[in-house]
Amino acid sequence: MQSLTFRCPDDFHVHLRQGAECGNFARDARAAGFARVLVMPNTLPPITTAAALNSYRREIEVAAPGLSALMTFKIHPKLDRVALAALKAAGAVAGKLYPEGVTTNSEDGVRRLEDAYGVFALMEELNLVLCLHGEHPEAFSLDREAAFVTGLAGLRSAFPRLKIVLEHVSSVAGLEAVLADGPLTAATVTVHHLLYTLDDMVGGKLDPHLFCKPLLKRPEDRKRLVEAALSGSPKVFFGSDSAPHTREHKESALCSAGCYSMPVSLSLLVSLFEAYGALNCLEPFVSRFGAEFYGLTLNQGIVTFVKEPWTVSKLYHGVVPLQSGATLPWSLDSSQGV
Ligand code: NCD
Ligand code: ZN
Repeated sequence: MQSLTFRCPDDFHVHLRQGAECGNFARDARAAGFARVLVMPNTLPPITTAAALNSYRREIEVAAPGLSALMTFKIHPKLDRVALAALKAAGAVAGKLYPEGVTTNSEDGVRRLEDAYGVFALMEELNLVLCLHGEHPEAFSLDREAAFVTGLAGLRSAFPRLKIVLEHVSSVAGLEAVLADGPLTAATVTVHHLLYTLDDMVGGKLDPHLFCKPLLKRPEDRKRLVEAALSGSPKVFFGSDSAPHTREHKESALCSAGCYSMPVSLSLLVSLFEAYGALNCLEPFVSRFGAEFYGLTLNQGIVTFVKEPWTVSKLYHGVVPLQSGATLPWSLDSSQGV
């Protein structure tokens, strides 16, 4: 296979940051071939109001013509019916739950899941998707996802009609919990959790550019995630969790978690699906299942990847991307996109 054309993809989990940076990262998303991205709200201050959501979306769409921004808000137990209805009216498609302190800018996160049950009830009523950063802050770092998902069954029985996404699923336990529930529970999968394990980050010399939350895990976890991504289950779809931090910050003590995967994620996915002889499963994973879960129309355009090597820039706007400086076999044919 020398060339692969498929429906324009969606990325159902991105961090675009703020200010001048936001335009750069939004343009990178469009240049990478994405037509639509679900934008996470962990900015400073966070996106919690309709006004903030509208102006953030405008900023993204003005900076990156052709990129459609699907917006989320950060869940706080104090969000009331009026605030949530306004967020919904402003076009929010989902609310994001960050447990307190588990990742970048989550110091204002929710302490106990039950504290936000009032918000979940309103989200269920308003048909807003609940996106979960599924890590229990008090568990051992490698076991945080497993500890968190023990609460999923309770959440489901309390809110039988709520759409729930376990974001950036990273473990067998997380995946099994999602698959055990019905069609209203899904998971996003990143490219880094499909390709790497904890050893790639700390098994030899420390690679801070692979430090992300949830942490990369064991080989058996990675293997199960790959199986799930290739399985054709509509409950498993792509969300890159592309999370840029500057090189200076990543290469220093107390660096934040996050991998900047946006520029390479599709190229790496094409190679991965090709290696497993499963290129036919790629389009549903990146361009269909997520949109269907969210109840959105599918993108109309196409992208074409060609087997022509390209070398990944060492730095994008001061950020070291995944596979920095590497040569990858599949490149986006930018003359073919629609
Ligand atoms: C994300 C970030 O930097 O905003 N970091 C990460 O490691 N994934 C936040 C998140 O999604 O956890
Ligand atoms: Zn994220």
